[in-house]
Amino acid sequence: MGFEGSSIMIRALHLSGRAAASAAALLLFATLCLAQEMPPGYAGTESCALCHEDIANAFAKNRHAAVGKEKRRGWEARACESCHGPGLKHTETTSAEDIRNPAKLPPSQADSSCLSCHTMQPTQVGRVQGSHAQNQVACATCHSVHTPPQAAQNRAARLNAQCATCHISQRAAFNRPHGHRLNQNAIHCTDCHNPHGTQMTASLRLSTGGEPGCLNCHNDKRGPFVFEHAPVRLEGCNSCHEPHGSANPRMLTRPNMAQLCLECHSNIALPSGRTNTGALGGIPPAFHDQLNPRFRNCTLCHQRVHGSHINKALLR
Ligand code: HEC
Ligand code: HEC
Ligand code: HEC
Ligand code: HEC
Ligand code: HEC
Ligand code: HEC
Ligand code: HEC
Ligand code: HEC
Ligand code: HEC
Ligand code: HEC
Repeated sequence: MGFEGSSIMIRALHLSGRAAASAAALLLFATLCLAQEMPPGYAGTESCALCHEDIANAFAKNRHAAVGKEKRRGWEARACESCHGPGLKHTETTSAEDIRNPAKLPPSQADSSCLSCHTMQPTQVGRVQGSHAQNQVACATCHSVHTPPQAAQNRAARLNAQCATCHISQRAAFNRPHGHRLNQNAIHCTDCHNPHGTQMTASLRLSTGGEPGCLNCHNDKRGPFVFEHAPVRLEGCNSCHEPHGSANPRMLTRPNMAQLCLECHSNIALPSGRTNTGALGGIPPAFHDQLNPRFRNCTLCHQRVHGSHINKALLR
């Protein structure tokens, strides 16, 4: 019996058997009819839809519906069971005991079913090392797999709100006076982070060239410069900037410029909290009179602080 035939038969039964059959028996019978087409133990999506109508209707618009529509994927007419496992017994007993609910499994087990199909996706690179996976944040915490796709125009706002549910302090940092305009949703967390993990610390994204992901937008800071400023390339942008937002102009890590620069360009010990890589810069020549305010605004003269093509002292 074809699948179309099955549903017609259910409808026919529904009309003729009104008097005799109880609703439950009808469902059981319909289920068994449908099951003939199924591998042992499976009931098929149409059976599930008889009792889980809302989910089935919403699911029909989800991209996962493709799983059940295209034969090559191996789940024809039984998409629900690609995640929930064989459900014939559950359709008979309707007991929660008899069906796999990913929400009740340890994340590692729930995720493995998702990964049975998704390992080949480029977005999954590094996922195994990803901090979310290591910290038991399951795929379904972030992905809703029954609902219709969300409107594209609200994407940034939606993502920011989602990440903020757990990362409250990182989200709050964007409220500081100087920062990226995340509050306006002009930028979102996943512009800089890949939630599935990367090989970088803090799951930071890289540019296509393997450089810091910041350069995807701040292209003018991309080298190679004839005269590099060593920390830009070696320590990265966040050796001088607080990317989530800062109390200091230009999102600098220190309230005044001289303080920032002299942490590396002097022979004083670094304050705690700063990474001392041992690769410190040279000491400014003696004419840099630090009692003179003019000399404390370093980028007044060292204008090419990210690197220069013409001047070794990064003056222009
Ligand atoms: C005859 C009606 C019926 C059919 C058919 C049916 N279900 Fe259910 N399902 C139920 C009921 C009732 C519950 C609630 C059980 C409970 O809470 O004890 C349920 C619960 C569930 C749950 C949640 C279990 C939990 O741990 O809370 C999942 C998942 C589920 N069904 C999936 C399916 C899938 C997949 C199919 C098709 C293979 C299906 N159901 C077919 C009636 C049905
Ligand atoms: C891509 C994997 C996937 C597919 C396909 C899928 N589900 Fe689910 N389902 C989940 C996950 C994950 C959960 C637990 C988290 C949640 O509720 O989103 C769940 C939870 C459920 C629940 C219990 C929670 C609730 O909302 O009542 C039911 C019932 C259910 N699914 C039914 C279905 C039915 C019916 C289909 C097919 C029309 C289906 N699912 C297809 C992954 C899937
Ligand atoms: C049986 C294979 C299969 C399983 C199991 C599966 N997926 Fe998918 N997934 C697909 C297919 C097919 C698509 C659609 C791809 C397309 O449209 O090109 C998809 C699309 C997606 C998308 C993008 C579409 C969207 O709604 O945003 C996400 C996210 C996703 N899956 C997450 C999950 C999660 C989380 C799980 C586990 C709960 C899961 N998948 C389990 C096959 C699967
Ligand atoms: C911390 C949240 C989070 C977790 C955990 C997570 N994802 Fe994602 N995932 C995202 C975000 C955010 C996107 C990008 C969505 C967008 O572009 O709108 C995404 C994108 C995807 C896509 C691509 C969708 C597309 O449209 O191409 C797939 C597939 C996917 N995730 C699968 C998974 C699987 C499988 C897991 C578990 C192994 C998982 N995700 C865990 C947040 C998460
Ligand atoms: C359900 C809670 C939850 C959600 C939602 C969530 N995270 Fe996380 N995230 C965690 C936990 C737990 C950790 C590990 C502990 C920590 O570092 O705070 C983590 C760690 C991180 C880290 C640092 C560690 C690393 O190497 O990856 C980043 C970056 C991150 N999450 C970004 C995101 C982004 C971006 C989103 C939104 C797409 C997001 N998270 C959504 C719970 C969550
Ligand atoms: C402009 C790029 C950028 C954006 C946007 C961004 N981050 Fe980050 N994030 C970073 C960088 C760079 C680091 C690494 C900081 C370090 O190593 O000192 C980081 C670190 C983190 C960490 C690791 C712990 C910590 O605080 O250092 C978490 C968690 C995190 N970000 C979450 C988020 C969340 C949530 C959002 C959105 C509300 C977000 N990030 C938006 C660049 C960004
Ligand atoms: C998605 C694009 C994007 C990415 C990725 C990005 N930025 Fe930005 N950044 C901007 C835009 C746009 C501005 C201009 C200010 C604004 O309108 O938000 C800006 C401004 C800045 C400023 C100047 C702020 C001021 O007060 O003048 C600094 C510093 C900065 N970004 C550093 C970084 C660093 C460091 C990273 C990587 C961790 C990064 N950005 C990643 C888009 C981006
Ligand atoms: C050695 C410290 C240092 C490093 C490393 C650094 N910056 Fe800066 N950056 C500064 C200073 C200082 C300013 C303020 C310049 C001024 O006000 O004249 C600044 C200003 C900026 C600005 C705003 C003004 C402008 O020139 O557009 C952006 C954007 C920026 N930096 C991005 C980056 C990015 C992206 C990286 C990594 C590739 C980076 N910075 C690495 C010190 C640094
Ligand atoms: C994280 C440490 C660090 C910070 C912060 C830093 N620098 Fe540097 N800087 C270096 C290193 C390392 C070199 C390379 C020294 C060398 O090649 O001998 C360098 C080189 C320079 C040079 C070229 C000098 C030369 O000998 O080639 C100038 C000028 C300079 N820095 C100015 C600044 C200014 C201005 C600031 C503040 C905006 C600053 N630096 C912040 C580490 C730093
Ligand atoms: C009034 C302009 C001016 C200000 C302000 C200034 N510098 Fe300089 N700086 C110079 C000049 C000019 C040189 C010498 C370049 C040369 O010798 O070719 C120099 C040289 C240096 C050098 C050595 C470069 C080399 O090639 O050996 C360092 C390091 C340096 N400055 C750091 C700083 C720091 C840190 C500050 C802020 C505390 C600062 N400068 C403020 C003008 C200035």
